[in-house]
Amino acid sequence: MRFSLYSFVAVLPVLATALPHPRTPTSVALRKRSGLRNADGSVNFDSVRAHMTSTERKFQRGSSAYAKNTGRSAPPTKRTNGSDPLTDGSDLLWFGEISVGTPPSTYTIDFDTGSSDLFLAGPKCGSSCLGHSIFNPNSSSTSKDLGQTFNATYGKGNAFGELYTDVVTVAGYTVTNQTLIVAEQYGEAFSDQTFPPDGLMGLAFQPLSGYDSPPVFLNMIAQNVVPEPVFAFKLAESGSELLFGGINADLYQGDITYAPVTQEAYWQIDIDSASANGQQLVSNISGIVDTGTTLFTGDSTNVAKFYDALNATSLGNGLYSLPCASFPNASVEIGGRSFALSSETFNLGPVSYESPDCVGGLVANDGLNGLWILGDVFLRNTYTIFDVGNSQVGFADLA
Ligand SMILES: *[C@@H]1O[C@H](CO)[C@@H](O)[C@H](O)[C@H]1NC(C)=O
Ligand SMILES: *[C@@H]1O[C@H](CO)[C@@H](O)[C@H](O)[C@H]1NC(C)=O
Ligand SMILES: *[C@@H]1O[C@H](CO)[C@@H](O)[C@H](O)[C@H]1NC(C)=O
Ligand SMILES: *[C@@H]1O[C@H](CO)[C@@H](O)[C@H](O)[C@H]1NC(C)=O
Ligand SMILES: *[C@@H]1O[C@H](CO)[C@@H](O)[C@H](O)[C@H]1NC(C)=O
Ligand SMILES: *[C@@H]1O[C@H](CO)[C@@H](O)[C@H](O)[C@H]1NC(C)=O
Ligand SMILES: *[C@@H]1O[C@H](CO)[C@@H](O)[C@H](O)[C@H]1NC(C)=O
Repeated sequence: MRFSLYSFVAVLPVLATALPHPRTPTSVALRKRSGLRNADGSVNFDSVRAHMTSTERKFQRGSSAYAKNTGRSAPPTKRTNGSDPLTDGSDLLWFGEISVGTPPSTYTIDFDTGSSDLFLAGPKCGSSCLGHSIFNPNSSSTSKDLGQTFNATYGKGNAFGELYTDVVTVAGYTVTNQTLIVAEQYGEAFSDQTFPPDGLMGLAFQPLSGYDSPPVFLNMIAQNVVPEPVFAFKLAESGSELLFGGINADLYQGDITYAPVTQEAYWQIDIDSASANGQQLVSNISGIVDTGTTLFTGDSTNVAKFYDALNATSLGNGLYSLPCASFPNASVEIGGRSFALSSETFNLGPVSYESPDCVGGLVANDGLNGLWILGDVFLRNTYTIFDVGNSQVGFADLA
């Protein structure tokens, strides 16, 4: 493959594997390579566009699942006041291992906080699942056929198959009766060429589940197997980790700032503002915290406002460039606190080899109904805590 969009899987160091239900938080090690640049360091525009398209598809899918499950037309994307009933795609980046069935078999899984379903390739899948490890529910004594098929669609990509329940173990925590799709067909977006892991696990809330069943982490909480109803990500060039059941105090420093989840579908929060060089350029925005999206995206009106204030050059397709030599320091304000984006994350790289102009990591995307996405470009700068118990997202500086 031309694009190097993929993360690299490290085997998870599971603590206390002998215990069925470890009572200490356990982690999945994650690693990735940045995939938005060519070998010469310049921006790979095809790759950036591929990421944007896959993000739009994922959002369309989330909207239709939400509509089906709640009877409302789409997850509200604007800021709402707290008392309202609160509320992927191809190029997904962070993955680790899980095991499924009895006896357990191991699979690599993309962990995605922007969706809620679980799928693996099944024995009837044939060529579209080539290269992925197959889960055969008929070889598992604990599998149960729900007698339904389901097509999880992601635009061009999809995972179609039969729904089963089975035992699923992640980082040493085991849940039973977990619904999953045993795929008979993977769309192009999930071919092993574009999607290296075997399957995908959504870590958002149930209203986004296409088959409307509790996502794995919510089942872990319901079945009382995790010590705390919290999971936390460090997404970085090295030492990335997803911790289930707690917060890893070694991976952050200083205080944690929390933002309430405004809508339990995605991990949706209010963002106070986005700034450059200490100046607030846009405010009053709502965003989702999404480990399954590479970029940092916003609606085109606000993104134009942001870059216009910096005299940036529009490159079309929602992208902007600025002089590399005086690239702005971008930050995002959440819960009254400013989180800086490092130049390594916010500056996507030169427009072309040795160009004096560099591409900004905030990208306009109107496929998302006004929502901003705090994807990888932002999340690589913070330790991020997904607190289901208190319905909030916490951000802290990396240690
Ligand atoms: C939200 O709530 C605040 C405080 O109660 C109120 O001042 C504001 O007008 C409300 N906004 C909307 C859009 O309802
Ligand atoms: C499992 O076996 C049953 C009975 O033979 C069959 O109907 C079903 O399709 C099989 N499931 C899979 C995923 O192969
Ligand atoms: C599932 O949906 C995808 C995308 O909409 C479509 O291309 C595919 O044919 C569907 N598969 C089945 C078996 O319905
Ligand atoms: C299994 O989970 C489903 C929801 O996915 C639920 O309706 C059902 O009651 C559960 N069964 C058991 C035995 O817990
Ligand atoms: C914030 O955004 C909402 C939704 O777009 C809008 O209704 C409201 O007027 C805005 N508030 C301010 C202060 O700009
Ligand atoms: C943008 O250009 C205007 C007009 O030339 C200038 O006044 C302003 O200082 C520039 N702003 C930045 C951030 O370069
Ligand atoms: C960004 O911050 C760094 C370190 O504080 C500073 O050296 C640099 O001048 C800043 N860049 C701009 C464009 O203000």
